[in-house]
Amino acid sequence: MSGSAKPDNRQKGLVSREQRESLNAQRGQVLWLTGLSGAGKSTLAYALEARLYQLGRRCVVLDGDNLRSGLCADLGFTPAARHENLRRAAEVAKLFAETGMICIAAFISPTYLDRAMVREVVGPDDFSEVYLDCSLQVCEARDVKGLYQRARAGEIADFTGITSPYEPPLQPALTLMTSSLSIEDCVQQLIECLG
Ligand code: ADX
Repeated sequence: MSGSAKPDNRQKGLVSREQRESLNAQRGQVLWLTGLSGAGKSTLAYALEARLYQLGRRCVVLDGDNLRSGLCADLGFTPAARHENLRRAAEVAKLFAETGMICIAAFISPTYLDRAMVREVVGPDDFSEVYLDCSLQVCEARDVKGLYQRARAGEIADFTGITSPYEPPLQPALTLMTSSLSIEDCVQQLIECLG
């Protein structure tokens, strides 16, 4: 063990991941949706969940807005707070994947570095990054939650795309142009991405 590596003190259960996956008849994995606020992450995550449920596959959605109302309610939107938000989300996503679930995670996750951290926490073999490519112009025009208007008015600090950066993924497993594809087409491509 190198000097800085932490000892692995985790307890091992009697039921293996392989047994859980075999019971679920699927591979546990994490599909990580990244994109601007308003790009369609939550909409697609829940549409995919509903479709997978119909297909008899076991899945769960982790959504940024939802986690921020509970587990991450103490966190804001500074770079450090987003890092901690995403670290917690990644740890939870990993737990789901280890129980043989398909975890659909929907987080802005705006920076390369934080998404690399997430990939590391989850484990690269269980992680697929999906970029919901939708221009700021379109997201702002939609402004479903009215947040862009408030950000432009200076009422919300560190708003992604306005006063805080978004770095598009360089090599995502899948890119979906959500402004030109139907929800059904996107869901179909996501299912193919799951394999
Ligand atoms: S992340 O950057 O840490 O990944 P996350 O996906 O959890 O963000 O939360 C984003 C959601 O928080 C947005 O969909 C929006 O509803 C809300 N929100 C509130 N303030 C901000 C902000 N300053 N920047 C981005 N989203 C914000």
